[in-house]
Amino acid sequence: MAKKKMHFAQFLVHGPSYHSLGMWRHPKTEFTKENWARPELYQHIAKTCERGLFDMVFFADLNYISDTFKGSLEPALRYAAQAPEHDPVVLLGWLAAVTKQIGLGATFSTSNQHPFYAARMWGTLDHLTNGRAAWNVVTSINRNQQANYGTERADADTRYDQAHEYMEVCRKLWDSWDEDAVVLDKEGAVFADASKVRRIEHEGRFFKSRGPLNVVHSPQNGPAILQAGTSPKGMDFAAKYADGIFAIQPRAENAAEYFAQVKGRMEKIGRNPDHCRILFGAQPIIGESEAHAVELQEEHNELVPLDAGMTILSAHLDFDLSQIPLDADMTERTEPELHRMRTRFLKPDGSGMTLREVAHRHGQGVGLPQFVGTVKSVADQMEAFFETVGGDGFMLTPIHSPGAIDQFVDLMVPEFQRRGRYRTEYKGKTQREILRQAD
Ligand SMILES: Cc1cc2nc3c(=O)[nH]c(=O)nc-3n(C[C@H](O)[C@H](O)[C@H](O)COP(=O)(O)O)c2cc1C
Repeated sequence: MAKKKMHFAQFLVHGPSYHSLGMWRHPKTEFTKENWARPELYQHIAKTCERGLFDMVFFADLNYISDTFKGSLEPALRYAAQAPEHDPVVLLGWLAAVTKQIGLGATFSTSNQHPFYAARMWGTLDHLTNGRAAWNVVTSINRNQQANYGTERADADTRYDQAHEYMEVCRKLWDSWDEDAVVLDKEGAVFADASKVRRIEHEGRFFKSRGPLNVVHSPQNGPAILQAGTSPKGMDFAAKYADGIFAIQPRAENAAEYFAQVKGRMEKIGRNPDHCRILFGAQPIIGESEAHAVELQEEHNELVPLDAGMTILSAHLDFDLSQIPLDADMTERTEPELHRMRTRFLKPDGSGMTLREVAHRHGQGVGLPQFVGTVKSVADQMEAFFETVGGDGFMLTPIHSPGAIDQFVDLMVPEFQRRGRYRTEYKGKTQREILRQAD
């Protein structure tokens, strides 16, 4: 029987730090004060990943600089803890111009703009990319973001209720144009057939919109949808709408549990479980020998000061961790804010980690597993993780940029192809088709 194939996506941020806070300091990272903000770097990465037949390049995004750790902006700015972050959605058009097949994904929150704005922007991007756009739908987790928009942060349940209605409004707007509404009949003086374009007259708990959209039906009828929630409500949301999920689970056992829970939810509501790919975060560190790879791992991990990890972890939890002793076992803490990331407080053997250990690991790569070794041994480790989980693939994050991305494409992709674990061509035109590609 043919082996189940892996999917790869490249994790990025339109800023100097992706997942690793050591990356911008790494000797092999080719950043200057200016070039990380230029499109050429991301165009290079998108072309490299397309050469590697990745499903997509994907940009996370936040709309704030966090002062959660110690109530100060200083640590986030000093360590580039997801600060600065330029808008990634604007960048997608630049990447579309130099690529043909790879999916182009970015994060956009449901908490700050009206859904009409989102439906119009993502509909337009789906046209500009010729059906390769993907929207990571997030509800936003940090109160700094709401403060920038002058609103209060709603509780998690309300944010998800709002997100459901947000998606419903967007879907109605994308559906407000039939596929064949544009006729462009020069003789008859008819551009669009008005009987094929409708108002939506939406009036709900959170939003009102009359419609129709002023963007014509796009290749995917709106973008592909991505999601990254881990709570039960987050998994319900993903199971209902998502074509792809990004998940971070340091341990394959927890990843398998998460995978089964989301796929089970999909089956329950009548969706084909293969219609949403779950990609787990991974940070490959490839050396010429095992010992060389361990040296590279140590070199990278030592570039992350403890306070940098404390800053990004505090931001992601929306909780100031300076209140907790560094040697406290994080699995024994009872603060409700810490509950969401509980599986990231576990060592590979399942025992609890201290705050110091969790913060170090979070700064190195937000808790995702590092796969360290030669090409063969990294491939073995990733295959073992993949087999324990049951699929579907990985969201990759580099220790230096862009070199580690080039290295993965040049060395690991052919290795996985040799093993019958990876595609040798794209089959499908749109992002949704490529995510669904099985061979
Ligand atoms: C892998 C991963 C990536 C995420 N990326 C972002 C992001 O780029 N921007 C953001 O605002 N939230 C991001 N989030 C937060 C989630 O979208 C979600 O809002 C948060 O996890 C709270 O939902 P939950 O309680 O269901 O997990 C991410 C979460 C995960 C697990």
